Amino acid sequence: MVSMKSFLTLASAALTAMAMPHFANNTESHLLVPRQTINTPSTGFVDGHFYSLWMQSSTGATMNVQGNSYSLNWQTSSQNVVGGIGWNPGSSRVINYSGNFNCAANCYLSIYGWTENPLIEYYIVESYGTFNPGSQAQLLGSVNSDGGTYNIYHTVRVNQPSIHGTATFDQFWSVRTSHRVGGSVNVGNHFAAWASHGLRLGSHNYQIVASEGFQSSGSSSITVN
Ligand SMILES: *[C@@H]1O[C@H](CO)[C@@H](O)[C@H](O)[C@H]1NC(C)=O
Ligand SMILES: *[C@@H]1O[C@H](CO)[C@@H](O)[C@H](O)[C@H]1NC(C)=O
Repeated sequence: MVSMKSFLTLASAALTAMAMPHFANNTESHLLVPRQTINTPSTGFVDGHFYSLWMQSSTGATMNVQGNSYSLNWQTSSQNVVGGIGWNPGSSRVINYSGNFNCAANCYLSIYGWTENPLIEYYIVESYGTFNPGSQAQLLGSVNSDGGTYNIYHTVRVNQPSIHGTATFDQFWSVRTSHRVGGSVNVGNHFAAWASHGLRLGSHNYQIVASEGFQSSGSSSITVN
């Protein structure tokens, strides 16, 4: 017959084994980069990487963030979705990115960000779908950077969603004339070109490599350096 004492010892050993972490040691656990699935409008950090996901209708898009990569899937039910990873605050850094961008309707792949004082939403568009976002804005000129030509546009958004709720604010745009998905973007070149046309940014809020869909469905998978 098993004594109560040795039974308790065995039970305790079993509990210890169950409580053992999955990883044999820290070296192994460091090899695993945490992945987070985001499907509600939010901003934050995953493993030190800033992300933002915004949806007009609060549904219809799912973003996975892992290390310096994200994937975004969106449906028309999101109405308008902007998601990506990057930095907070933004700056005139050089951004390298790569990946793929799949959308057959209205969508943009951009370096995207906001400033405050003044409140400005800005885009450096690398590729877009069926709609040129500059086509309803004022063309001010162009800038040559990173092996391409970008047209510079300005427009004013009246009572539209912003990082401070519904507001009226300026939009600054650079739109690459030959589309690409992947490359190096010298953000400072665009900021300087905009300033030469009187388009001055404020204090930087976030800056991401964003996939945006407007009443469209699509997917993207982007790595940002
Ligand atoms: C920790 O895990 C790594 C990777 O599996 C292994 O190479 C290493 O030998 C382990 N170290 C110890 C002390 O167990
Ligand atoms: C970006 O790519 C360029 C080469 O195209 C390289 O010189 C630079 O170090 C890269 N920067 C980052 C942050 O990866």
